[in-house]
Amino acid sequence: MRITTSIVNVTTAHGGKDLIVGREYTPRAMRRGVWTAGIFVLLCAEASAQTRPNGAALFGEQCATCHGGDARGLNGPNLIAVIAAGATDERLLQTMRNGVTGTAMPPSRASDDELRAILAYIKSLAAPPAAAAGVEASARYNPSRVSNIVTLTMNDGRSITGERRNEDAFSIQVADARGRLQGFFRTEIKNITRDVRGPSPAADPLPGVSYGDILEDLKNPQRWLTYSGDYSGRRHSPLTQITQQNVARLKPEWTFQTGTMTRGRGFEATPLLWDGVLYVTGSNNFAWALDARTGRPFWSYRRELPNDLTYGAQAPVNRGFAILDNRLFMVTLDAHLLAFDRATGKILWDTILADYKIGYSSTLAPLAIDGKVIVGISGGEYPTRGFIDAYDPATGKRVWRFNTIPNPGEKGSETWPATAGVLERGGGATWMTGTYDPELNMLYWGTGNPNPDYYGADRKGDNLYTNSLVALDAATGTLKWHYQFTPHDTHDWDANQVPVLADWPDRKVVMQANRNGFFYVLDRQTGELLFGKPFTDTTWARDIGKDGRPIVLNEGDKGCIPDMWGGTNFNPPTYDPALRMFFLNTRETCATYEAQEPKIAPGRTSFGGVVRMDRDKAYGALRALDATTGERKWEFKYPQPTMAGVLSTASGLVFAGDNEGNLMAFDAKSGKNLWRYSTGTPIWGAAPMTYMLDGKQHIVVASGTTLLSFVLP
Ligand code: HEC
Repeated sequence: MRITTSIVNVTTAHGGKDLIVGREYTPRAMRRGVWTAGIFVLLCAEASAQTRPNGAALFGEQCATCHGGDARGLNGPNLIAVIAAGATDERLLQTMRNGVTGTAMPPSRASDDELRAILAYIKSLAAPPAAAAGVEASARYNPSRVSNIVTLTMNDGRSITGERRNEDAFSIQVADARGRLQGFFRTEIKNITRDVRGPSPAADPLPGVSYGDILEDLKNPQRWLTYSGDYSGRRHSPLTQITQQNVARLKPEWTFQTGTMTRGRGFEATPLLWDGVLYVTGSNNFAWALDARTGRPFWSYRRELPNDLTYGAQAPVNRGFAILDNRLFMVTLDAHLLAFDRATGKILWDTILADYKIGYSSTLAPLAIDGKVIVGISGGEYPTRGFIDAYDPATGKRVWRFNTIPNPGEKGSETWPATAGVLERGGGATWMTGTYDPELNMLYWGTGNPNPDYYGADRKGDNLYTNSLVALDAATGTLKWHYQFTPHDTHDWDANQVPVLADWPDRKVVMQANRNGFFYVLDRQTGELLFGKPFTDTTWARDIGKDGRPIVLNEGDKGCIPDMWGGTNFNPPTYDPALRMFFLNTRETCATYEAQEPKIAPGRTSFGGVVRMDRDKAYGALRALDATTGERKWEFKYPQPTMAGVLSTASGLVFAGDNEGNLMAFDAKSGKNLWRYSTGTPIWGAAPMTYMLDGKQHIVVASGTTLLSFVLP
């Protein structure tokens, strides 16, 4: 099926819910909102009614200084884009009436009639008749409907015809007839002919990413196809162009600014790289396809989110796309899974994972395996029940679900009280991307805290399968084995950290540095614990008993155990298989826990207590562990605990971020700092990635609301 056809269907089905900007996220580019002639006629009729207040005048007086005379943004956001993304009148009017606390957006004193007139005026600006022909122009290149066509004659004689998606004085970004997205520097181009029209050249869509491509992992250095780079979760690249000798010369190449606003947290994603294009998601379910050579977008996407988000409002983040064939997959803060057309950013299907109103959300990067997209769910601070799901990439239909909290009577339910309702709200969220062993066809996924977080009196027992690593048969979703790191947790010590797979001479292992401050190595075929050893100075426990359970010394009532964000968190670690060393950013913190019985209600958090932190005693450190023993080899200290991820390369380098905003490179063996760059804002949750492009090794990292690329001169 031609993708163009399905775009039209989707637009209709979702009532224009999803916006494709088509190029840079700047006011002018927002011209191409999704509109139907019907609405436009209706608005004209409304605007022309004599008795109505004058929307244009009111807008000019009350809104234009911030939102711009054309409503396309100035100091306040672009309202045309907000409407094109599908914002309902009801929500817009509510925002206008109430303002947005803590921002420049004031509550309006205008009457309801006046507000409606202002809104009608803004909408009339959204669809000037002259632009009507440009509707859906950012769909796949189709010369009969799109006028924005360029033909590039290259210095080497090639000729490329396509839709211009973006352009600046130095480069141009084009989508060709096969849906190939390519960025070119002007120095490579002899001549550009514009506005060429003609019959659509017959072209089959570019073959997309196959399962085989993902299996090839990072052996092909021009790609980065999963959250961690490959299925193993190692985040270790075989690249060696950037070395200990030359890393000090690494310099910034470009910065991509999301142009979005977020409160508290920004980018946490790792971009995917395929065919010279970075596919990346941002906070509040924005997403982009960027030219990896320049950081300039081919398309942008924004999801219109409901204004009664639960967990999604507290953590409005997203950790990235999965890719398979020509589809990208992203989860949303209102707990949906979306499939995108890679070339255009249009939504192909939209599947509901769970009811966000109860407390669910989704923030992880999905994992694409052969014929399945695997996702998890967030919201363990609300009365929810975690699960891991597999979906058909073509249709969005669910293939299987594994519930992380058993049903009454099922195995594991004996670790909970028999009280009615406890299992249905047991927590065990699955909010980080797991890993996959293609040979065993087994998935390894971490599970989160039981609910309520700190109050355990009404959920006596181990509370399986919370705070565990679960190994699932990828074909059916059935549980093969589990290991619980923190039985009956009362500290919010989710076990969602990336499980890292390694092949040792005698065993296939899975490793996890856990929020409880211990580093674990297990046999990944059987689930047998090989060892667990502290990687922090935690006083909660120092040893694991023969029964595989921690020997707990201090539950937090004696003070000074790791805080609720733990000894490390979701910030990815890295494993260097040649050195057999595990590198991670750690958090040394000191907290006291006080439990309080919470009121439990759908859609409301139920932490069940408070955590008091002694901030003077807190610091962060990059640590290197001997993965075979858990022994600490070296550390590099930071003044504050950090949530930044790490990356290692075969040239013996470790790249890490910190809470002070530095991106740094270290000698993997000695821990010596070799390079640093201040990004200006904490690197939070995001880990660097690396690839080859144009013969050069790049390092890319998300920081705040920017994405930065570095290369050697
Ligand atoms: C003093 C500056 C200022 C004025 C005046 C102002 N706004 Fe805003 N407006 C903002 C800012 C800043 C935001 C973004 C708030 C945030 O961060 O969420 C905003 C947000 C909004 C939003 C929500 C956008 C979204 O993303 O959902 C709407 C709708 C809106 N304004 C409409 C109006 C209208 C209509 C008027 C005139 C009646 C108006 N604003 C006047 C600054 C202003």
